[in-house]
Amino acid sequence: MTTTTQAPEREQWSGQLGFLLSAIGSAVGLGNIWRFPGVAYENGGGAFLIPYLVALLTAGIPILLLDYSLGHRFRGSAPAAFRRLGRRFEALGWFQVAIAFVIATYYTVILVWAIRYVGFSVTQAWGSDPAGFFVGDFLQDAGPTLSTDVVGGIFWPMVAVWAVTLVVLALGVQRGLERANKVMLPLLVVLFTLLVVRALFLPGAVDGLDAFFTPSWSALADPGVWIAAYSQIFFSLSIGFGIMLTYSSYLRRRANLVPTSYVAAFANSSFEVLAGLGVFATLGFMAHQQGVAVGELEGISGVILSFVTFPQVISMMPAGPVFGILFFVSLTLAGFTSLISILQVVSAAFQEKFDLGRARGVGVVGGLCALISLALYSTTSGLAMLDTADKYANEVGVIGSAITMCLVVAYGARRLPELQAHLNWVSTARVGRWWRVLVGAVVPLALTLMLVTSLADLVTEPYGGYPWAFVNAVGWGVAGGALLAALALAALRWRRPVDDFAPEPVPAEAVR
Ligand code: ALA
Repeated sequence: MTTTTQAPEREQWSGQLGFLLSAIGSAVGLGNIWRFPGVAYENGGGAFLIPYLVALLTAGIPILLLDYSLGHRFRGSAPAAFRRLGRRFEALGWFQVAIAFVIATYYTVILVWAIRYVGFSVTQAWGSDPAGFFVGDFLQDAGPTLSTDVVGGIFWPMVAVWAVTLVVLALGVQRGLERANKVMLPLLVVLFTLLVVRALFLPGAVDGLDAFFTPSWSALADPGVWIAAYSQIFFSLSIGFGIMLTYSSYLRRRANLVPTSYVAAFANSSFEVLAGLGVFATLGFMAHQQGVAVGELEGISGVILSFVTFPQVISMMPAGPVFGILFFVSLTLAGFTSLISILQVVSAAFQEKFDLGRARGVGVVGGLCALISLALYSTTSGLAMLDTADKYANEVGVIGSAITMCLVVAYGARRLPELQAHLNWVSTARVGRWWRVLVGAVVPLALTLMLVTSLADLVTEPYGGYPWAFVNAVGWGVAGGALLAALALAALRWRRPVDDFAPEPVPAEAVR
């Protein structure tokens, strides 16, 4: 005999605006400030904007709409929504939860670095050697090993960040997530705009912008550039791993999904380009100070760009500490509003499946995530671990999940026409057949080609030049572990009703 209890009322956003702000808050994150400028620079500069735009239009917006329609129509966390699409698809929902779990564990540590660097900016604690300071004094980096030596200066702030994050989640969708976004997102826009305006007036800024916008056309023939563009869009728009699906499940029955997706995607990409302008204007200034061309600068990617190159520039600048505070506070705000959305994917799924109250769900699952995050990333091997986990979680996990999601909806469950009708029914703007063609054919095909290419690279060369044993343990540990966890969790019994759910019938006029 099953002993499932009655499902409690579903939480809701206060309205369309609360949802939109939270969706933008989730999208605009470390990916925009920390990832995009470096990825663009490494992949053809101005020419990268072409694959980026193609990826946004052919995959970003279509998958955003797919996430929205699944969450809104089936009104559940990722496992519940996919199960309601067809029982055998529940594991896909758990795979997305597992990927979100992995990303949350390392996302927090970057946030902690940003917070610590707000303080370091005031005193310019890195002195004359920002690289040595970051890797040596601050991270005490031991390289690609599996170390258990904890770094106190990272561990304790991480405990604090986890505590604040879990409190916000425990307060719930409206009082916690929405309120945090309503305060932090406008503040982020103001601070970041100030930073970009300041950067644009620095001597040499124009050379930086030139480097950003001068295309290297040959890059377009490189499949790696296209892979980078598609994975950037997925990470940045928060799609393909349960976030937008979970967020849209808290919308009221009538919600204007289609225009909202355009606004969210446009806002996110605008912020991304704004970050590109700010970062490259700053790099132009740096090159100008050193008397070299922007193209000759080193350390223009990922972690190094934010935590080594930027501190270097801050030291060269008049009123550098103010600039540093603006940059690192922006990074913190952007990261925090994304982190809560990533964790909500995990927390909502466990609450629903195991019938946990909100506070208990957040305490148990968030607590577990916090412990793993602390154990892996507050140690002296955190940097290499993060780099490898980020690569595999995004280029294998998220891309694999997006392909499977398209195939499941289009061919496994054959529900694309129903989801299209749902979108058109609740929205003031319609999506046409193009959406079904993109989700059912173009996206899975393009992403499969990309996945095969990245897998071929990953099995022939150890990622990042790290030892094979390390890459295999961390990278395949992440991807394989997520798959095993998904299968195991899907096999467990639901403690809340999940199957007695019928989506609302769509009126005939919406079906076309
Ligand atoms: N969308 C979030 C980011 O860009 C995850 O960082």
